[in-house]
Parts: sequence; C-alpha cells; structure tokens
Amino acid sequence: MDFLILKIVFIGVVHSREGCVHKDYGNGGTVCVCDESHCDDLEAIHRTDKQVVTVYESSKSGHRLDKSVLNFGQKSVPKANKSVTINVDKSQALYQAIIGFGGAFTDAAGINIKSLPQILQKRLIEDYFGETGIEYTLGRIPIGGSDFSTHAYISVPIEIPLIKEAKAVSKHDIRLIASPWSAPAWMKNNSELNHGGFLIGQPGGKYYNAFANYLVKFLDAYKAQGIPVWGITIENEPEMAIYLGKIRNIKHPFNSMTFTPELQRDFLKLDLGPIMSAAGYGPNVTRVMVCDDQRPFISQWAQVIYGDKEAAQYVSGMAFHWYLNNVSNAVNLDTVHNQDQSKFILSTEACEMWMGKDQHVYLGSWQLFEKYAIDIIMDLNHWTGGWVDWNLALDTRGGPNWVNNFVDAPIIVNATAREYYKQPSFYSIAHFSKFLPPGAQRLNHTLAVDGPTDADTLLTTSFVRTDGGTVVVALNVGDTPIDVTINDVKQRQNITHLLSAHSMQTYIYFDN
Ligand SMILES: *[C@@H]1O[C@H](CO)[C@@H](O)[C@H](O)[C@H]1NC(C)=O
Ligand SMILES: *[C@@H]1O[C@H](CO)[C@@H](O)[C@H](O)[C@H]1NC(C)=O
Ligand SMILES: *[C@@H]1O[C@H](CO)[C@@H](O)[C@H](O)[C@H]1NC(C)=O
Ligand SMILES: *[C@@H]1O[C@H](CO)[C@@H](O)[C@H](O)[C@H]1NC(C)=O
Ligand SMILES: *[C@@H]1O[C@H](CO)[C@@H](O)[C@H](O)[C@H]1NC(C)=O
Ligand SMILES: *[C@@H]1O[C@H](CO)[C@@H](O)[C@H](O)[C@H]1NC(C)=O
Ligand SMILES: *[C@@H]1O[C@H](CO)[C@@H](O)[C@H](O)[C@H]1NC(C)=O
Repeated sequence: MDFLILKIVFIGVVHSREGCVHKDYGNGGTVCVCDESHCDDLEAIHRTDKQVVTVYESSKSGHRLDKSVLNFGQKSVPKANKSVTINVDKSQALYQAIIGFGGAFTDAAGINIKSLPQILQKRLIEDYFGETGIEYTLGRIPIGGSDFSTHAYISVPIEIPLIKEAKAVSKHDIRLIASPWSAPAWMKNNSELNHGGFLIGQPGGKYYNAFANYLVKFLDAYKAQGIPVWGITIENEPEMAIYLGKIRNIKHPFNSMTFTPELQRDFLKLDLGPIMSAAGYGPNVTRVMVCDDQRPFISQWAQVIYGDKEAAQYVSGMAFHWYLNNVSNAVNLDTVHNQDQSKFILSTEACEMWMGKDQHVYLGSWQLFEKYAIDIIMDLNHWTGGWVDWNLALDTRGGPNWVNNFVDAPIIVNATAREYYKQPSFYSIAHFSKFLPPGAQRLNHTLAVDGPTDADTLLTTSFVRTDGGTVVVALNVGDTPIDVTINDVKQRQNITHLLSAHSMQTYIYFDN
C-alpha cells in the first residue's frame, strides 16, 4: 500500500521525463533508440527533504535509471532469501575524492556524431554532458591521430567544436585530458608513426626535447581555442608495444611509441617537467599523468617514477587502462596509492573489444552493462578517482578505425537510419557519473550479510558529495534478488529495498 501511495505522489511531481524506446537485437538486453522525434532523457538531481531516499534502478529486465522515492523508516516486507545491510557512516570519509567520469573525443566519435542530423548531434552531446543526460565531467583527446581515425596523421583534430558544445551544455567544468599516441615520425628511431619505436637518442637530447616542445605547442593551441587542457598523459600505452612483442611477437600496427618507466622518469626530469613549467604549464595548471597503460604494469611505474623525487615533483597522478584488469591485479592500485598518497589514480581508457570474435558491436548486451559496472566499482574501491570510457560514439561496425581494430561503445550511430542507440553500458556509467560529481569522497562502509554467502554477487560503493548528499551504489550480478538495507549510522535510520537479479541501483539522500 505504501508503495502505491508513493507512486501516485511520484507521478505528481515528476516533470516530463522521456522514456526509453527499447529495441531488442537478440543480444541479451535492449538498446534505447534515439531519432529526430524521440530520445529518452534524465532529470537533474535535486536536493530532497531529510527523510527522503531516492533510488534509481537499471536492470536487464528493462529499467533504465527509473526512479522511486522512498522514505527512511518506511516498512517493507522481506522479499528475497538473502538480505544485506550496508552500514554507511558519513563521518568516515576516509578515501579518495572523485576527479570525474567521461569518454573520448576521438576522430571516429567526431565523424559519427557529425554524420547525424543537427538536432541529434545536439541530443547526443546533451546525453553525455547535459543535466538531462549523464553529466560527464571528463573528456579525453588524442594529440594527433589514434587508430580511431581514418588514416595515420599528425594535425589538428576535428573535435574542437564538439568539445566546445559539451562545455556549453554542462553545468560542470569539463576537464580535458590529452594523450599522444605517437610523436611525429621524424622524432622517432623507426621513422614512422606506427609499430612502436622510440624517440631518437636519450632524454635531455634533441629529440626528447623536441617532443616536450611539441606537447607544449598542443597545450598552447587548445588554450588559444579557449578550451585549456586540464591534464596530459605522456604517452598512450607506452609499454604495450613491448608487451605485445614479448607475448605475441607483434608490434602495434597503429600510431604508437615506447617509453620504459626509466625513460619516462628521465624525460620528466630533463625535458618535460622544466619545459612545461617554463611555458606556464606547471603541475598546478596542467597535471601530468604517467604510465597510461595496463593495470598489471602500474606498480613498477610508480616505483620507478614516484621513487625519484626530482621526477615525481612534476607528476600529479597515475593513469591506467582496463584491458588486462582482473580481480587479482586490482591490488596494484593500493600499491600505487601507498607509494605516494599525494598523487591521484585515474582509469583513462576502457571498451569492450569482443576479443576473438568477428563481430565487435553487440547491441543491447547486458553482459557489457555488468562488465562496466564491476570494473568501475572495483576501481573506485581501490583509490581510483574516476573512469574514462573510450570512443563517445562509433558506427554499427565499431569504427571507423583505419587498422580495422573495431570495438564496442556506449553510443552506436546508424547514420543511414538517422538514429543512434544507447547501449546498456551508457546507463551503467550513468549510475556513477550522474551522482558523483568531482569532489565526492568515498566512505568506509561495512556490509552485514544475512542468508547464503556462497556466491558473491553483490558489489557496492558509497560516497559523500560536496553538497552533503550521500550516494550508495549497489550492483547485483546474480540470478536471485537481494533485500538491500541502507543503514545510515549517523542518522540511525534505515531503508530496505529489493535489488532484483541482474540490476543496479544508485541511492541518494540528503541529511543536512
Ligand atoms: C527462496 O528459496 C526457496 C527455496 O530454495 C526458493 O524456492 C525460492 O524461489 C527462493 N525465493 C527467491 C525470491 O529467490
Ligand atoms: C630504437 O631504440 C630502441 C631502444 O634503444 C632499440 O631497441 C631499437 O632497436 C631502435 N630501433 C631502431 C629501428 O633503430
Ligand atoms: C600547487 O598546489 C599545491 C597544493 O594545492 C600547493 O601546496 C603549492 O604551493 C602550489 N604550488 C604553486 C607553485 O603554486
Ligand atoms: C590476472 O592478471 C595477472 C597479470 O596482472 C596474471 O598474472 C594473473 O594470472 C591473472 N589472474 C587471474 C585470476 O586471471
Ligand atoms: C541501420 O539503418 C539501416 C537503414 O534504416 C537498417 O537497414 C539497418 O538494419 C540499421 N542497423 C541497425 C544495427 O539497426
Ligand atoms: C571502517 O569501519 C569499520 C567499522 O566501523 C572499522 O572496523 C574499520 O576499521 C574502518 N576502516 C578504516 C580504514 O578505518
Ligand atoms: C532499522 O530501523 C529499525 C526501526 O528504526 C530498527 O528496528 C532496525 O534495527 C534497524 N536496522 C538496522 C540494520 O539497523
């Protein structure tokens, strides 16, 4: 009965949120279709009264951030065989602060977005960056080309107008992170943009120096456009070329360049650090992140670079990619944090490649929703300050990509149909990006489980925002439902709500 009454109230206050138009491609879930006449959207998150707990749910069964309004102390009958109490204590904001969530303005994303009618281009940018969307606060930009271009090149990207539009629709200050895939070929000892290769000579020498100046020129160009860059990674996946050579005897067939941790340390000390500072891009203006490669590698990079005071003074954080993530190497994030607690950690690239398959876009895949959510929660629970997805938009094949390295993306564009599809992964990121603005700090929470503990199907994380709001995210990857109780330790109040099989909920409440 309580539920019915609340539902009536809820309908009364809600403004016209557009619902999802589902389409099932037979991949175990659905996409939401956006065309010129209809596209689903979200509401802005507003402060609520003290007793109110608002919960947003997405599920394999079809919910897409659907909202319910609950009240602390509200009675509820247990519905599941397992119940979990999440004890949330705001006085224990012991962990890292959020830097942001976002995606990458690759050439491929730009080409796909621009292939849509003007009105849909605008909608798509709003979906990612606007208050009616998922409120991304980070954008990654390749310096020069990447494989997600139509050819290998070094020049000015086509995405600048899109970045400006994203900034215009956002109520946040969008932070840009730039990464080179390769130095210009003439600086490299293999004389090409592809297949790895090193800068010629040694750090402190002519070519390393030229590369530092090249990065500064890029920063100048963006500043001149009125969109200053918040931070850079020194090189995209600098170790991967060597790693692939070792395990599979191949070299990256696309724009790439190699740095060892030692070379990056010396480049920072002898070239990049001093040159950036002299040009007005010191550590408090433009943050430098090291590594920007797979999680198994990061402990060693921290040891070599953070362990050297002279190099470390120019470094703000550690960037890493998700492709080799597994449950055992998440602990590397703790190692990196413990090596230097003053530096942040950021996940700067992730996408599903459907490795070993011929098809690289699976429209509607719920599996991908869960893979994204599991990864984000794991990272957040190990000191990571944010999470950046790869291409903002790809075509139905997963491109364009000039070496046919097709992958999946949260938004897939079908230009001929004049429509785009929002994948479950889009809503997966939304459960974090929309509720955790920069500055939100992770809480120490504890779990008490009642019922079968054999299969660990519940993943959770909790934060307190700078406006005092408390946010709890709970993901159920199991086939059976769980009764979840959010128990606010300070307020001595709790609320119990059912978390269905294969669903995720974000709870938000204000007690101040
Ligand atoms: C609870 O467990 C019983 C016995 O195993 C089972 O029959 C029932 O379907 C379960 N209920 C739920 C909601 O999972
Ligand atoms: C480039 O430099 C690396 C590291 O010194 C070296 O291993 C490699 O053989 C060089 N490549 C070429 C083509 O000279
Ligand atoms: C940079 O910021 C840090 C921390 O905010 C501060 O302690 C330091 O004085 C700043 N340095 C400069 C050169 O402004
Ligand atoms: C996880 O990855 C590491 C490399 O970081 C590897 O050594 C290990 O075998 C992997 N573990 C599992 C459980 O797959
Ligand atoms: C894209 O649109 C075309 C033209 O309407 C249609 O034939 C095709 O099936 C669509 N592709 C997908 C994946 O929906
Ligand atoms: C987190 O809270 C629990 C329960 O209050 C406490 O036992 C634990 O020590 C806390 N962890 C940290 C790192 O303070
Ligand atoms: C939840 O609140 C009720 C009523 O205030 C109380 O009886 C119960 O013990 C609380 N549960 C937890 C887990 O604290």
